[in-house]
Amino acid sequence: METTKLSNGVEMPMEGFGVFQVPEAEVCEQAVCDAIAAGYRLIDTAAAYFNEEAVGAAIKKSGVPRKDLFITTKLWIQDAGYENAKKAFQTSLDKLGLDYLDLYLIHQPMNDYYGSWRAMEELYKTGKIRAIGVCNFYPERLADLCLNAEIAPMVNQVELHPFFQQPGALKTMEEFKVQPEAWGPFAEGKFGIFTNETLSAIAAKHKKTVAQVILRWNVQRGVVVIPKSVHKERIEENLNIWDFTLSDEDMAQIAKLDKGHSEIIDHSTADTAKFLNGWKIHD
Ligand SMILES: NC(=O)c1ccc[n+]([C@@H]2O[C@H](COP(=O)([O-])OP(=O)(O)OC[C@H]3O[C@@H](n4cnc5c(N)ncnc54)[C@H](OP(=O)(O)O)[C@@H]3O)[C@@H](O)[C@H]2O)c1
Repeated sequence: METTKLSNGVEMPMEGFGVFQVPEAEVCEQAVCDAIAAGYRLIDTAAAYFNEEAVGAAIKKSGVPRKDLFITTKLWIQDAGYENAKKAFQTSLDKLGLDYLDLYLIHQPMNDYYGSWRAMEELYKTGKIRAIGVCNFYPERLADLCLNAEIAPMVNQVELHPFFQQPGALKTMEEFKVQPEAWGPFAEGKFGIFTNETLSAIAAKHKKTVAQVILRWNVQRGVVVIPKSVHKERIEENLNIWDFTLSDEDMAQIAKLDKGHSEIIDHSTADTAKFLNGWKIHD
């Protein structure tokens, strides 16, 4: 497994395993057990996924030394602000059964995220978190945080797949030395991505699957990927991307698939802000 060195020197695996939309404890625990057995070391959960306990149980079961794992969770909007963030961090840690996190992310650029960030900077300095970052910070928000925070975010997890490639956002991340991480690397399996003609032709040429080509394309652009699956064969298939290389021509063909906008979520609208702020994870 290749790794990337974050701006603070921490090594982060280039591929991990995501568990969004797997709220059933047994299913999630089994999937994470399968993923760790297959060789994934980065696990990406969130307080808002309601499965931190299941992830924690799988980590315990795996028998893999804690230092060899890279565990990420995220702070939800409802828990934004200095005091709330500190409390929410401890709640997540307790649910995961861990005493430190590898990466803690602000889940959405909403509510008092500057207050959250100050709490995260403090936790980072005490060693409770090895790296801190954000999600869904579009260029202007990311630049603003980088310019004003004492410690700049090390990672920005955003939607990145062949239909929404975000070259401008990647440029801003490069400028501020923020590692890009792709959520929804398969566009959540929507829009016929697995039967797309261009991707299928490239996959056939390399004797790989479309899923493997998609993941390989993102890692070759320097983007960390965290595909989700609850099927063991797919979990294994998605990790088998380290024995081939896409050519410049393949990369150029895939670049043409970019629609230039997201068809999953548009963070710039009031409706999205209303929807996300309305999503409560506790009383
Ligand atoms: N920060 C954020 O705001 C944010 C937002 C969304 C997601 N995320 C993170 O990013 C992770 C990945 O994104 P995602 O879960 O939304 O979607 P995704 O990984 O793009 O796609 C998952 C979908 O693809 C299917 N799939 C997986 N591997 C496949 C394969 N080899 N062949 C065919 N189908 C396959 C899965 O089905 P099965 O499970 O049935 O196999 C599922 O329907 C999440 O789990 C989460 O950790 C973060």
